[in-house]
Amino acid sequence: MNPALSNPSRKSGMKRRPPSTLDPKKIKTPAFVIEERLLEHNLSILKSVADQTGATVLHALKAWATWPLFPIIKKYLDGTEVSSLNEARLGREEFGPEVHMYAPAYKPEEFAEVLKNSSHIILNSFGQLRLFKRALADSRKKISVGLRINPEIKTDEKYDVWNPCALDSRLGIRLYEFERELKRDPNALNGVEGLHFHVFFERELKNLKSALPMIEKHFGKYFKQMKWVNFGGGQRITDNGYDVEGLIKLVKDFQIKYDVQVHLEPGAAIVWHAGTLVASVLDIIERKDVPYKVAILDISFEAHLADFILSPDLELKIRGAGKKGEYKHAYKFGGGTCLAGDRIDRLYTFKKPLKVGDKVVFEDAIQYSLVKSTMFNGVQHPSIVLWKDGKPKTLRTFTYQDFKNRMG
Ligand SMILES: Cc1ncc(COP(=O)(O)O)c(C=O)c1O
Repeated sequence: MNPALSNPSRKSGMKRRPPSTLDPKKIKTPAFVIEERLLEHNLSILKSVADQTGATVLHALKAWATWPLFPIIKKYLDGTEVSSLNEARLGREEFGPEVHMYAPAYKPEEFAEVLKNSSHIILNSFGQLRLFKRALADSRKKISVGLRINPEIKTDEKYDVWNPCALDSRLGIRLYEFERELKRDPNALNGVEGLHFHVFFERELKNLKSALPMIEKHFGKYFKQMKWVNFGGGQRITDNGYDVEGLIKLVKDFQIKYDVQVHLEPGAAIVWHAGTLVASVLDIIERKDVPYKVAILDISFEAHLADFILSPDLELKIRGAGKKGEYKHAYKFGGGTCLAGDRIDRLYTFKKPLKVGDKVVFEDAIQYSLVKSTMFNGVQHPSIVLWKDGKPKTLRTFTYQDFKNRMG
């Protein structure tokens, strides 16, 4: 057994989240702003899970990949979880040797390069395992091979876009496929050291707790043959009120039960409550037949906060703003592109009326927003800023040349 599993090194002693010290007046907009102290707070929670369980905790680059900050993240986490050759290269070059790769399918012509940049590789089907059998066997000493399973758990996701277990999901191998393959070839799992599942989107520990028995019922006998089991991401581990101690216990119990190492690959949890998108009001539209004003900002919802248009239920908080009816002055917000849908169809209220030039701070706007951002309409891409010791430090600004380079 991995000695770390039975020898947790220290108690978590969860600290309270420090308050944000961001002063939006000091930010040149538009800007994605990451607060260093808040980021480190999250990272210390994730490290405490690793320290107390011996589990491997990875930074899922698909959620956020601001590599100039990897030196901070590396102090706390073991490596990266990546989903493409580009992410794998970034993980290897800028974070370190531990790179866990998963993609729904790999391209034969890229596979050697993928292997060169990975420490672990997870395949999505037995077809892919067979296709790359030879290359995997040749690199087995250096690379640990795993398979993604689809445990077919029922989630209450309203939108299939966030549900990896949706009926027609392409992600992961279902139990009947697993059993069918083993009947066809009893040695099909030879050389496979790990199983991986990722089934949640921004969920609490109780969701993992209630899903795990079903996952174990289906795949438990295979877990026993493995060295590691990867629980994926989708847990709000660093969010206020998340039962971190409960997670630690669950991971420890699982590891002992199956004699495996658990891998966790949080994405959003790394930057929860630690990042904002700061915008400025450019204009305010008032219509006599509309019961609120519309403020036009120097960001684009379509280009910079696309998930919030895709999923109208996702919460998008604005610092200092209340809900409908909470304060007197009601607004909706629109982006600076000419797309009619470049707007956020939620009502916000403020104590004082907004005016041109005011700063608007969107909370929790880094995860999945920065990595998915575009330069649609040629709109100015927000710069990337670190808020450190009460001051902004600009990590990256975007220019006309960046826009032009992407277009041809
Ligand atoms: C395979 C896998 N691992 C990890 C993650 C990270 O999930 P989250 O950002 O919700 O923690 C995702 C997100 O889609 C994923 O698909």
